[in-house]
Amino acid sequence: MTGKPRIALNIRQKVVLSFAIYALVVICIGYYSYTNLERIGQKLVFLEKLNELSSAALEMRRYEKNYLLYRSPEAIEEMAAYMNLMEEIIREISPFAKTLRVGKLLEKLQADFMDYKAEAMHIDTASTLSEETLEGLRIQGKKLIYSIETAVAEQRSKLFSIIRFLKTQLLVVLGVAVFIGVFIANMIAVKVIRPLKEIEKATLSIAEGNMEQLPLPKTYDETRSVIEAFNTMLRELDMRQDELIQAKKLSSLGILTSGVAHQLNNPLNNISTTAQIILMDLDEMPKESLRSMIANIETEVRRAQDIVKGLLEFSRAKHFSIAPTDLKSLIDKTIRLIASDLPPQIEISVDVPKDLIIPMDAQRMEQVLLNMITNSVQAMETARGKIEIIAVTDPENDKAVIKIRDTGKGIPKEYIGRIFDPFFTTKGGSSGTGLGLSIAYGIIKKHRGSIEVASEVGKGTEFTIRLPLINKEAS
Ligand SMILES: Nc1ncnc2c1ncn2[C@@H]1O[C@H](COP(=O)(O)OP(=O)(O)OP(=O)(O)O)[C@@H](O)[C@H]1O
Ligand SMILES: [Mg+2]
Repeated sequence: MTGKPRIALNIRQKVVLSFAIYALVVICIGYYSYTNLERIGQKLVFLEKLNELSSAALEMRRYEKNYLLYRSPEAIEEMAAYMNLMEEIIREISPFAKTLRVGKLLEKLQADFMDYKAEAMHIDTASTLSEETLEGLRIQGKKLIYSIETAVAEQRSKLFSIIRFLKTQLLVVLGVAVFIGVFIANMIAVKVIRPLKEIEKATLSIAEGNMEQLPLPKTYDETRSVIEAFNTMLRELDMRQDELIQAKKLSSLGILTSGVAHQLNNPLNNISTTAQIILMDLDEMPKESLRSMIANIETEVRRAQDIVKGLLEFSRAKHFSIAPTDLKSLIDKTIRLIASDLPPQIEISVDVPKDLIIPMDAQRMEQVLLNMITNSVQAMETARGKIEIIAVTDPENDKAVIKIRDTGKGIPKEYIGRIFDPFFTTKGGSSGTGLGLSIAYGIIKKHRGSIEVASEVGKGTEFTIRLPLINKEAS
């Protein structure tokens, strides 16, 4: 046996851990996406400023051209005003050098601007202008415009690439989230639902009398504790059942003994009384009376023999010969057996499929049916009523279900729990031994079947017999 590993998480811890990791991943990705969005916002502001710078530069250059053409001092003033504006914009965007990592770009812009400004100062201060100075200004102007436009194009393309990246990231995150979600759901299903299914299966098999222990899982979590607890419960149940059977056996023995004593006492008393009368009046007794008294003794002896025979049947585990038997033919045969004793106002209807073959001991089952139909007949107080025998198959459980229903007087609630006890009878005098249903119960159990009763006083009784359609062991 392997010991409990040092780090063994139970299901609750595993689920909490998975969700914590899930939450952490979502927070990290969320934070990363947020910073990227923030960067996009800053880039947009930066780009807007660069555009302003570009327009100011173009305006400045327009006045530069005007000056070169007309030499008007107003043009110089306008140029200076735009240069100031550009200077101000450059100052405004200088903090972006760090945050957007555009230090080099800004440095270059500033350098080109300063170069241009220096050239422009020459014009302002020089009284006569050489062709060379003018050319220098033009070249610097072009250079400045070019570097501003390159910066704008570069920043715009960077902005688009960030947006593209964010789009891909969003898709990947969604995919990962779905994957982790499916993984957690699957883990819960495997860890929780499967053991529950196992337990459900085990519970069903316990209902059928199987007390086998469930195999323990390899993990050390709640599933294991539940299965361990379940196995303990099974052991307890098994023990209690044994105790219960023992107690039941003892109580049946008590009922049996007092039943035998009581049942045998009646015929013995009758025999004794009759024999005493014969002994006393033997000489004067007419032959006819003597014959009737001896016949009486004979009847009582037969009754005692019947009781002993029933008892033997009840107690002896005689060999059962289980073979596929056609239920409908068996029922018809049983009804024919008692047809002559049946009061004419009692109607028996049989609704059983023609080809319903059940593995059973035909003779024993005939005995069961005979007793049950007789019970139903005897339950009709007015000797009028209806008995229905119905059979269906229950393919889900591989069982045949036989119902015997009558419109008799019903069984009072206080007797219902005792009708299967040996010697329990409500039929006074010499009409019942009270062994019929207990023998029937034993026979049905031998077939691995079950018998249940439902009854309502004044309305009738319904017995339900369930027999397996597949013969697992012919005992
Ligand atoms: N269909 C029924 N309707 C009403 N009561 C019933 C019915 N079947 C059985 N009982 C009750 O159950 C008791 C026990 O039945 P069981 O067949 O074991 O013995 P019994 O019929 O009294 O005697 P025996 O079968 O030996 O003639 C009956 O005495 C009767 O009170
Ligand atoms: Mg009976």
